[in-house]
Amino acid sequence: MAQGPAAGPGLRDLALARSLTFGTAVRSEKLESDPLLSTLVAREAELLVPEWEGKWDVLQPERGRFEFGPLRAVLRFAQANRQRVRGHALLWHEAMPAWLAPALQEGQAQAQQILETHIVTVLGETRASIRDWDVVNEVISAPPGGDNPSPTTGDLRPSPWLSALGPGYVERALRIARQADPTLRLTFNEFGVYSDTPWAQMKRERLLRVVRGLLDRNCPLDAVGIQGHLQMREPFRAEPFVEFLTALRGMGLAVLITEMDVREPDVLAPTLEARDAAVAEYAGAFLQASRDGGARTFLVWGMTDRDSWLLSDPGVARRDGQATRGHPYDSELRPKALRARLAQIFSS
Ligand code: XIL
Repeated sequence: MAQGPAAGPGLRDLALARSLTFGTAVRSEKLESDPLLSTLVAREAELLVPEWEGKWDVLQPERGRFEFGPLRAVLRFAQANRQRVRGHALLWHEAMPAWLAPALQEGQAQAQQILETHIVTVLGETRASIRDWDVVNEVISAPPGGDNPSPTTGDLRPSPWLSALGPGYVERALRIARQADPTLRLTFNEFGVYSDTPWAQMKRERLLRVVRGLLDRNCPLDAVGIQGHLQMREPFRAEPFVEFLTALRGMGLAVLITEMDVREPDVLAPTLEARDAAVAEYAGAFLQASRDGGARTFLVWGMTDRDSWLLSDPGVARRDGQATRGHPYDSELRPKALRARLAQIFSS
């Protein structure tokens, strides 16, 4: 199979024909340095999300000094290719610049000021170009089981934000965002809520409880993003997941898949073809259930195996040295079975 976009219509056009949106995470420096990748992204994606350019450590590397250069590079690429961009993430316990955690300990009033300055400044910058932001990312705590090193009983994970501002910080961030940009779509983004395991079920319950509490207090919130970092060693069953999405939609929220990629099981199938078929089957079941549950926007966390965080990030890379096959295109930018499955789901 040749390198580059699969023959026939791009995923963005297939999805649009069904009023769906397909997109991917991108890194600005790769778009600039890798013409084959940028051609692929231009053809396949309708929606882009910056993989790191919208995070705190990039946007505010020093207290009070904002750096929008890398984010603007993504926005320029999107504009040139008539793509939309979603933002990620206004509040997260990772990608915090070194100054931030100590500064948050200066007292609640200071912490509140820091949060507000960041959100207001960033949304002021992106008002014309980004209409959907992950306002809070990964705030739900990990229940016992699975990979979770430090399970807790509270619904919110322990974090510098929780320590500084107390459990009201989620609501506070959402309210600041709504006030700063009243028509922005406010998204609550979370991982680890898709599989048919007791801990994912518990996390779904925690998320529903937190979101219901926010809405009961008339806190602004428009959407829940399901990251979808899939793990094939976890069983998946459509029914509980569709039920979860349906419950969210019943609260008037949109649901979207924000970061799909696939981690394969410990024991791999003997050939690349068989591995790719298994990835496509597992992810396909997840995508179909997402569609059935009312998701209309689907993003992958990278189009190709070449630059994936599943290669470079020690926390998620395979320990046996095998490269990931968890994206729609391989490391030579050839389309795989997952790309075909996406096309099929968007065409049905
Ligand atoms: C990841 C990036 O892909 C990596 O390059 C970086 O080292 C760490 O962050 N959930 C999220 C994303 O919300 O921001 C993470 O992105 C992947 C998990």
